[in-house]
Order: sequence, then structure tokens, then C-alpha cells
Amino acid sequence: MGNSTRQAWLKAMGVTVWERRDRPAASPEPLSEGADGDWDRLREEIRSCTQCPLHVGRTQTVFGVGPRSASWFFVGEAPGAEEDRQGEPFVGRAGRLLDAMLRALGLDRQEVFIANVLKCRPPGNRDPEPSEVASCLPFLRTQIAAVRPRVLVALGRFAAQSLLSTEQPLSRLRGGVHAYDGIPVIATYHPAYLLRRPADKAAAWADLKRARGIVHHE
Ligand code: URA
Repeated sequence: MGNSTRQAWLKAMGVTVWERRDRPAASPEPLSEGADGDWDRLREEIRSCTQCPLHVGRTQTVFGVGPRSASWFFVGEAPGAEEDRQGEPFVGRAGRLLDAMLRALGLDRQEVFIANVLKCRPPGNRDPEPSEVASCLPFLRTQIAAVRPRVLVALGRFAAQSLLSTEQPLSRLRGGVHAYDGIPVIATYHPAYLLRRPADKAAAWADLKRARGIVHHE
């Protein structure tokens, strides 16, 4: 992104000074690597899943996007109306904010992996039920095991609690570095929450910088 866009985002978050870090060029990879049969099988398993009642109301499942070699893996909650329609995570309003957050980090959407805990949309965007999380989480676990990113960024309470198998509130989970299967986990605010509470963008930016530090210094 242009410097002015990045500055606008940083300014919106109350950040006036930041350090520029150079990063390796993004590798021009396809969104999925079709040669991997296991990955294709997982995609098909998710596409045809009927394990929980959410399959009844979905337009389609939302597998996730990004290269298998991604260093960053962002985990959201569940598809919303637009994601259900397009079959891609974070393509609605919250997604546009996530894209801006990525650009502020010097990242392109194409170089990170983005997936949700739930692969189907809960009706009326209600909170996921524990039973739905329980049946869908193995898919996310398999995706994480395949990508083995340098950092997992949990967007919001559901993603953080599901990944870390805890009921602790996000307020307790933010600010530290956790681990999931040996992979560092940063918990931060969900972009949809930040749309409602822009004052918390500065805190979210601090979380993202912590994640960036992990990726760059691991
Ligand atoms: N919110 C999420 O948690 N995930 C999406 O894909 C879209 C909105």
C-alpha cells in the first residue's frame, strides 16, 4: 500500500511514530497447492460436512484463503452473510478493516492465511454454539498443522478461547504470547468489534506489532 494509506490507518489508531522494517518479498504462490492430496481432501471434507445443523442454512462453506507457506495465520469466528455468499473469509466490512490492518503491517492479504473457527455461517450471525465449535474445530486444527505458521493471530474472544481451550475473557488473553501446538498465539480484538469501538484500535495495533516481532525475530 502507499505510504499515505498506511499513515491514515496508523493515524486512525492513534499511532504517530513507527519503525519501518524491511521484509522479504512475498512469494507469488497460489491460494492452495493442488498437488497436495491431503489438503484437497480436507477441502472436500469441509465442503460436504453435515456434522452440525449449520449445514442446513449455509449457501456454502468457507474453507479459508492463503498460501500453505504463510508465516501469519489469522483466525476469525465464523462466516457472516457476505462470506457465506462469496465463500471467502473476511470479505465484508470487518474484512475491509482486516485488510487495512494487514496493510499497516506491510502485509498483503494474498500472503497470509485467513480462516475461521466455524466454516459455516450461524443464522443471523449469532454466537457459535459450543457443540458447533466442537465439531468444526478439528478442521481448523488440521489447517494449522498443515500451514505451521510462525504466528497465529486470534481475532476476538471465540477464536482465542477456541484455540487456547480456555474460557478466560479476551481482556485476560490479550497482551501476552500464548502457544498452540508450539506455535505462538497473539489474541487481539475482532475487526467487527473495532468497527464499533475504534478507540481500541491503538491496543489492537500494539497486539499486531507484538505478532510482527515474533514473525521477524523467530
Ligand atoms: N467475522 C469473522 O469472524 N469471520 C469472517 O469471515 C467474517 C466476519
